[in-house]
Amino acid sequence: MTKVMIMDHPLIQHKIGIIRNEKTEHKVFRELVSEISMLMAYEVTRDLALEDEVIRTPMAQTTVKTLQEDQVSLIPILRAGLGMIDGMLTLIPNARVGFVGLYRDHDTSKPIEYYCKLPDIVDESLSIVLDPMLATGGSAIAAINLIKAKGGKNIKFVCLIAAPEGIEALSKAHPDVDIYAAAKDERLNEINYILPGLGDAGDRLYGTK
Ligand code: PRP
Ligand code: URA
Repeated sequence: MTKVMIMDHPLIQHKIGIIRNEKTEHKVFRELVSEISMLMAYEVTRDLALEDEVIRTPMAQTTVKTLQEDQVSLIPILRAGLGMIDGMLTLIPNARVGFVGLYRDHDTSKPIEYYCKLPDIVDESLSIVLDPMLATGGSAIAAINLIKAKGGKNIKFVCLIAAPEGIEALSKAHPDVDIYAAAKDERLNEINYILPGLGDAGDRLYGTK
């Protein structure tokens, strides 16, 4: 069954408040999306496997714990997921990075795929899918379908703002995928934008309209 974690740490809530504000321009918006992603990386990676390694300190031999960081794949959904990459890489610098290009059709809100380049996925590896917005859930479901088709088994989905409708759809389609969000909002509007949300995440990040 899907685990849904709303990461409402005060630092995250404060930064989410700033990016929701329509007065926040793209430079600050981008910086904050990156910072929030870095803070979220801490919790999302909490159950990563560790291996023992024997080393010498200047005083004695000891066994330390090490991560197999290259067994983590970060997979942003283009465009807006790109804004979450740098923050995540700050904490997991050796992660592999894959890309899934999807955009929502304006009339149907269904995702259209235009690009997919994923790293090799081995059994023990963790795939972390990144997208600031989980609205209808269509884009997240489509991206995870592509990762599973390539052999991905251990997958987590990380977003900033989630609509209840998206959480429900994603949990139903992929009950094995845990969802991490910085905020759970009220609902979708009639054109499937999140309320109160933050508007179009791609446009807010890159200053486009
Ligand atoms: C946004 C967002 C998600 C998707 C969420 O992307 O970044 O990928 O919408 O909506 P959904 O849950 O209903 O699928 P958009 O399609 O606007 O593309 P863009 O990132 O290229 O602007
Ligand atoms: N995509 C966005 O960028 N924002 C929304 O509110 C919904 C989908």
